[in-house]
Amino acid sequence: MAGRTLHRVERTAKQGVRWVLGHGLPRTVITRSAKKGDLQGDLILSGPGSHTFDLADLFEEVRAQGPLYRGAFSMVATDQSVIREVLTSPDFVTGFFAPDAGGGWMAKAGTWAASDVFNPIQPPSLLATEPPAHTRYRKLVTRVFTVKAVERLRGRTEEIARELLDDLERSGSSEVDLVPRYCGLLPITVISEVLGVPVELRERMLEMGKGAALSLDIGLDWGTFRGMEAALEEFDTWLRGHLDHIAAHPGDDLLSQLVAVREDGDRLSEPELRAIAGLVFAAGFETTVNLIGNGIALLHDNPDQLDILRERPELWANAADEVLRLDPPVLLTGRVARRDSVIAGEPISRGTIINTILAAANRDPAVFTDPHVFDVTRENARDHISFSSGRHFCLGAALARMEGEVGLRLLFERFPDLKLLDGRERHPTRILRGYSHLPAKLS
Ligand code: HEM
Repeated sequence: MAGRTLHRVERTAKQGVRWVLGHGLPRTVITRSAKKGDLQGDLILSGPGSHTFDLADLFEEVRAQGPLYRGAFSMVATDQSVIREVLTSPDFVTGFFAPDAGGGWMAKAGTWAASDVFNPIQPPSLLATEPPAHTRYRKLVTRVFTVKAVERLRGRTEEIARELLDDLERSGSSEVDLVPRYCGLLPITVISEVLGVPVELRERMLEMGKGAALSLDIGLDWGTFRGMEAALEEFDTWLRGHLDHIAAHPGDDLLSQLVAVREDGDRLSEPELRAIAGLVFAAGFETTVNLIGNGIALLHDNPDQLDILRERPELWANAADEVLRLDPPVLLTGRVARRDSVIAGEPISRGTIINTILAAANRDPAVFTDPHVFDVTRENARDHISFSSGRHFCLGAALARMEGEVGLRLLFERFPDLKLLDGRERHPTRILRGYSHLPAKLS
C-alpha cells in the first residue's frame, strides 16, 4: 500500500518536473519578456486564439531585426540560409536540455523525470536523438519511404482517395466537414496499410492523435499538459499491445520487419522499437492531414489558381509544394548548440537555443519573389523548408508530397464546384498548423 502511494507521488512529481521544464519555465520567461516587447512570445507560445492569427506580419517584423533575433528564451532565425546553416550543422542538436549541450541541473532533472511512455520529442525518438543512434534508427526505416518506394504506393493512394470521395457522394448530404471525412482519413489509411495497423482503428487513432499533437508545443498550461500526456499514454498502451501482437503474428509490413530486427540478435531495445514505430505512425497522419486541409482552403480562396490547375493538371505536384511553402503544417523547430559556434557570422555559446521558424523561411524574399503570394506556377515552390533540413529532414517527405498532390487533385476533380462554408476552424496546436473543421458544400 505504502509502496503504491510512494509510486504515485513519484509519478506526479516527475510529471510536475516535466511540465516545469518544458512548459512552465519557458512560459514564464516568454510571457514576462513579451510584456517588454519581445516578439518571440507571439511566435512560439501557445495561448488562447494564438493559433488563429496570421503570422506573416510578425515574420517580417522579426526578420527586419537581422538574421538572428535575440529573444529572452532563445534566439530566433527566420532567414532560410541561416536556418539551413543551423539545421545542417553538427554543432547543433535536438533536445533543449540535451546533456551534451551543457543543460546542467535542467538536463539532470529532465533525465530523472523522463517518462517511459512514447513521446515524439523525447529520446529515443528519431526527432530527439543524434548520431550514431539516430543514423542507426533511420537506416531501419528509410528504405520504405524513398521516392521510388512511394511511387509504388501512388495507385493504392488514388484508390483510397476515390473510395473516400465515393463515401462523401453516397452520404446523401451535400454538406460535409472535409477534415474528419477526407483530409484525416486519407493519410491515416495509407500509413496504416504501410505499417500493418488495422484500418478499423483509424477514427480512434485520429482522436488520440488530436490530444497527442499538443506534445510538440511549448508553454502549455498544466491542465492541457496533463490531457496531452494522458493521450500519449493511451497511444503508448495501444502501441505496446500492437507490437506484442505483431511479434506473435508477423506480416510483411514495416512494423513486422522492425519487430524482427528487434528479435534478431536484440539489436533494438523495446523502447527504441516503440519510439521508431510510434513516430513513423503518428508523423504519418498528424501532418499530412494539415497539408490537405490547408491546400483545400488556399485553393478555394484563390479560384484563379484552381483555374490554372484545370488547364494545366501537370502542375498539381507543384501546387502541393506551394501549399507547403505558404501554409506549412509545421511552424518551427529548434536546436541547441553543443559547443561554442558561429552562425550568420555571430558567435553562439554552448547551450544557446535557436528556434528556426520554417514558416518564415518559406517567405524569405531572398529566395522567393512576391513571397506572400500563392502561385501554383512558382518555379521554385519546392525550395521551401517545410520538411526541415539536414539529418532530421522529414523521412516521409516523398509520401506527404504524393498524398497531398493526389488528395487535392482528386477532390477538386470530383467536386469542381466545392464551396467552403462559414465555420472553418484551426487546430488549437501552435506548432502543428492546420484545420480541425472545414465545412463544405460539395456541389
Ligand atoms: C506534409 C506533411 C509533413 C510535414 C510538413 C512534415 C514535417 C517534418 C519536419 C519539419 C520534420 C523535422 C523536424 C526537425 O527537424 O526537428 C519531420 C521529421 C520527420 N517526419 Fe515528417 N512531415 C510530414 C509528413 C510525414 C510523413 C507522412 C511521415 C511518415 C513516414 C513523416 C515522418 C517523419 C519522421 C519519422 C521524422 C523524423 C526524422 C528524423 O528526425 O530523422 N513525416 N517531418
